[in-house]
Amino acid sequence: MAHIIGGLGTSHVPSIGVAIDKGLTGTPDWKPFFDGYDAGKAWMRAAKPDVAVVIFNDHGNSFFLDRVPTFAIGVADRYRPADEGWGPRAVPDFEGAADLAWHFADRLVESHFDPMICREIDVDHGLQVPMELFFGRPEAWPVKVLPIWVNTIQYPIPTPQRCWEMGRVLREAIESFPGGERVVIMGTGGLSHQLQGRRAGFLNREADLAWLDGIAADPERYRAMSREDYVEMFGSEGAELIMWLVMRAAMNPQVDLVHKHYHAPASMTGAGMVVLENA
Ligand code: DHB
Ligand code: FE
Repeated sequence: MAHIIGGLGTSHVPSIGVAIDKGLTGTPDWKPFFDGYDAGKAWMRAAKPDVAVVIFNDHGNSFFLDRVPTFAIGVADRYRPADEGWGPRAVPDFEGAADLAWHFADRLVESHFDPMICREIDVDHGLQVPMELFFGRPEAWPVKVLPIWVNTIQYPIPTPQRCWEMGRVLREAIESFPGGERVVIMGTGGLSHQLQGRRAGFLNREADLAWLDGIAADPERYRAMSREDYVEMFGSEGAELIMWLVMRAAMNPQVDLVHKHYHAPASMTGAGMVVLENA
């Protein structure tokens, strides 16, 4: 059976990708941020996963506001990097874990979820940047990907509880999949940020630091919060953090927090990373 070897959480800010493209990772502004990922990259090299499940949101690139699925699952054999306005970035295409993805889609429907099923779609910085942060910039990605899109863009976004329930189904789907795949799960987005409105520029370091420990030790607290609580505590775009709950719910109740990193600001965000292993 396939099995989960780790749960990762990370920011997915687009300017991280731009910094890599422009060779700025060693500058005084960026070095402290990228240095914090060395441990995550080393963990990944040692873990040798076969598949990365990446939970992220599209940012008006593959879905626009005219049609936004609450949850979507990628079942394609291949995903191209999306053109976000400056042409597709020079990252390799992503090979899809299509068989596992179809199995997961089926388990979701059996569990009374109704996801959109995507057979052809591009992936934006929400998936690209986390992959680069943990795998660097290889000629070909060493894993297949299973993309899960969550609407965190247009209200009504799903509840934290619903994201949690999806994570339970994800675990069940992985563990009932007949293969020996080693699977890592990446929850992406956050941490605190707000890009719009009267609180544009909002950042909450205290809440971010509490999140990085709490997502490991006390996730129930974050599962029980409302969507409005997320917006208030983390900002309107910081509510992307609900996507980490899909990852966390797929892990054991008890996990070891083996790596964490925080740097703020990155772009206009609190940027954070965790690596979790089942205890
Ligand atoms: C920005 C964009 C994002 O998608 C995000 O999650 C954080 C920040 C930005 O444009 O700064
Ligand atoms: Fe985002």
